[in-house]
Amino acid sequence: MKKSHQIAVIPGDGIGTEVISEGVKCLKTLSEIFESSQFEFEYFPWGSEYYLRHGRMIPEDGLEILKNFNAIYLGAVGDPRIPDDITLHGLLLPIKMGFDLYVGLRPVYLFKGIESPLAHILEEEIDIVVIRENTEGEYSNVGGIVGIEDRELAVQSGLFTRKGIERIITFAFEYAREKGRKKVTSITKSNAQRYGMVLWDRIFKEVSSLFPDIQKESKLIDAACMDVVRNPKGYDVIVASNLFADILSDLTASVTGGMGLAPGASFNPGDKSFPGFFDPVHGSAPDIAGKGLANPIAAILTAKMMLDYLGEEEAAGLLFQAVKKNLSKKKVRTVDLGGSSKTNEVGEDIVTILKSR
Ligand code: NAD
Ligand code: IPM
Ligand code: MN
Repeated sequence: MKKSHQIAVIPGDGIGTEVISEGVKCLKTLSEIFESSQFEFEYFPWGSEYYLRHGRMIPEDGLEILKNFNAIYLGAVGDPRIPDDITLHGLLLPIKMGFDLYVGLRPVYLFKGIESPLAHILEEEIDIVVIRENTEGEYSNVGGIVGIEDRELAVQSGLFTRKGIERIITFAFEYAREKGRKKVTSITKSNAQRYGMVLWDRIFKEVSSLFPDIQKESKLIDAACMDVVRNPKGYDVIVASNLFADILSDLTASVTGGMGLAPGASFNPGDKSFPGFFDPVHGSAPDIAGKGLANPIAAILTAKMMLDYLGEEEAAGLLFQAVKKNLSKKKVRTVDLGGSSKTNEVGEDIVTILKSR
């Protein structure tokens, strides 16, 4: 049966535009290989330039427009000319929260051909999936700023609900079971944050008792950061709140070769009536934007996660193998991986590998 997936593409800002075009190239190549899998791409020029012209990151009816797609493929947003809280609360966070895409899935894998910056770790020995709670916690927009000058006062509250915690932890255990993974580590800071995090720990105990076949472990964020660097092989599935998993996913990216390799997916496993949202873990990288230096592999692996979500497992598998081959050849790679190739050359090499399968 011929399937056509409607994809909303938001290249966004900085290197977002550069890496997304390589991901789209790979998807177009896959639709030539698998005639039954077709994609219709619609581009939205939303982001910081749009903000500078219209005073908003997306149009007022932006979510209404996006809700009709099967998936959203985003590069990154963020521009040094605009405060980050405006760009991100104007585009990225309303999509995740508005569509209730409560799972943030952020896998890292130490590919053959990539040296971990940590001594004594061999290729393919790190294989961690960070599962991030995407809709509440420390990112809830609850609080405010009052007063002026030395009376300025800010309140920033974290919102933790039983429903929110229970569903993400349950997803983590179900994911571990389905993928044949052995262990789920929950990471909090319940020694200092006495309400939300204590509730999280309690619910982790309850939910984990329903999965006796999976090992469980509970750690504090400070110790966990130290330990992910000291012993990355000790981690399998990690589940954590919005902020902690955000921080941890940059950390796990860095022990497996950096931000240029780390993909991400946000979705609601129980309800696909809204589109899933796919963006690499990295941002718009203003320091390298516009120079063709960005590694597109994080965006290409993000496209692979989008294919999995759309039920295109065969195309996803082929794309993953093509990335693996590019990395193990150690020939066509960007500067962050010690090479000298440009963003589009890496994309084209992966397209060539796909075509020569
Ligand atoms: P960043 O992830 O953009 O960059 C951090 C470092 O990693 C930089 O040195 C950058 O050059 C490098 N890097 C990132 N992606 C790379 C790639 N694909 N290839 C090679 N090197 C890469 O984080 P930042 O500098 O803290 O943030 C820049 C902007 O992006 C900010 O405005 C921030 O708010 C925003 N941001 C957006 C997203 C998103 O849209 N999903 C995610 C994170 C940060
Ligand atoms: C990410 C980013 C965003 C997040 C920021 C830019 C709001 O850091 O996707 O990891 O924390 O959600
Ligand atoms: Mn982040």
